[in-house]
Amino acid sequence: MKLKFCLLLFLFVECVFFKVQCKCVKGCDIALASYYVKPAFIFQNITNFMQSKIVSVSHSSEIIIRYNKDIVSNHGDLFSLFRVNIPFPCDCIGGEFLGHVFEYTANKGDTFDLIANYYYVSLTSVELLQKFNSYDPNNIPIKEKVNVTVNCSCGNSQVSKDYGLFVTYPLRSSDTLEKIARQSNLDEGLLQSYNSGVNFSKGSGIVFIPGRDQNGDYVSLYPRIGLAF
Ligand SMILES: *[C@@H]1O[C@H](CO)[C@@H](O)[C@H](O)[C@H]1NC(C)=O
Ligand SMILES: *[C@@H]1O[C@H](CO)[C@@H](O)[C@H](O)[C@H]1NC(C)=O
Ligand SMILES: *[C@@H]1O[C@H](CO)[C@@H](O)[C@H](O)[C@H]1NC(C)=O
Ligand SMILES: *[C@@H]1O[C@H](CO)[C@@H](O)[C@H](O)[C@H]1NC(C)=O
Repeated sequence: MKLKFCLLLFLFVECVFFKVQCKCVKGCDIALASYYVKPAFIFQNITNFMQSKIVSVSHSSEIIIRYNKDIVSNHGDLFSLFRVNIPFPCDCIGGEFLGHVFEYTANKGDTFDLIANYYYVSLTSVELLQKFNSYDPNNIPIKEKVNVTVNCSCGNSQVSKDYGLFVTYPLRSSDTLEKIARQSNLDEGLLQSYNSGVNFSKGSGIVFIPGRDQNGDYVSLYPRIGLAF
């Protein structure tokens, strides 16, 4: 705890007073990952991949159901070919960017491409896996831990103070700005401002879109109340 505080203070002092190029000082308690559920996956697979201090083995389904009341019935039976929002902690990684490092345990035949685009449904990328793991991308030792980094956002006061919870949303070929705006009931201009220069129709890459809390409401940037998990 003390160490964490010192590190935070150090980053803060370094970034604020010495104007060193720091992209982030601290993260936020929660972000959401938009996980596109494939037919072959069972609920347990997804909670294994997306485990964190928020989604733990013991109560993963309750937590996930809370953030997806609209698509999950109380019986917990999922849902395939749907996007599920999975909560995770959004950390400041090395003062460089906001993200969270998940731990994946490698199986026989795994490659960075398979992990990034199949198991983690493009929430991460091969480049990020290469950056945070020393393994050969096509020959990962079985049962070894792989650092899977997923980017996140805590909001942007320059765009709007009305939104403080964000979904890391991998774009699929069926997505367009208009469609995402309609589904989230948000303004296209607002979504574009949070992702400046991004072509929402490009079918790959990630965007950040405001997300709803456990009550189905958008959360304002300050204070981030009601976000306890
Ligand atoms: C999904 O979980 C089942 C049961 O635990 C397991 O046999 C299977 O290998 C898992 N699939 C993946 C892709 O991890
Ligand atoms: C996540 O953020 C890092 C640092 O800004 C960036 O290099 C990377 O391309 C991003 N990853 C994805 C999947 O967009
Ligand atoms: C995963 O990240 C941790 C912490 O940064 C690092 O110590 C470890 O070596 C990384 N794993 C691999 C396989 O590179
Ligand atoms: C966005 O990407 C789509 C698909 O690649 C392309 O058809 C479209 O022209 C692009 N739009 C702009 C404004 O570049």
